[in-house]
Amino acid sequence: MDLNGKRIVVIGGAGLIGSHTVDALLRTDVSEVVIYDNFARGVRENLVGALTDSRASLFDAGVSDGLCEGSSSSGVVT
Ligand SMILES: NC(=O)c1ccc[n+]([C@@H]2O[C@H](COP(=O)([O-])OP(=O)(O)OC[C@H]3O[C@@H](n4cnc5c(N)ncnc54)[C@H](O)[C@@H]3O)[C@@H](O)[C@H]2O)c1
Repeated sequence: MDLNGKRIVVIGGAGLIGSHTVDALLRTDVSEVVIYDNFARGVRENLVGALTDSRASLFDAGVSDGLCEGSSSSGVVT
């Protein structure tokens, strides 16, 4: 998959799999990684490294069905 210049949304990005996914995405040439997590289980410590990258942004928010309708993002990882 060509991730060059893509904006990717990772839901649950502060969790175990999500945070590793964020790290892996930031090793590619994505333009932006937008992370949503409601911190029901995730922890900010999982994202300490990722958030030093200016392409990463974190939203402390829960996500429900319908978030991505009309989204301009290139991909969504949950
Ligand atoms: N051994 C450990 O220390 C440890 C730690 C974490 C996870 N695990 C296990 O690893 C496995 C895989 O973990 P995982 O990454 O699938 O689970 P996870 O719980 O680590 O990650 C899921 C993430 O989704 C978030 N989330 C849940 N509902 C949400 C919503 N509506 N909107 C936004 N964010 C939401 C949670 O806060 C969490 O950060 C699981 O079996 C889990 O039990 C083990």
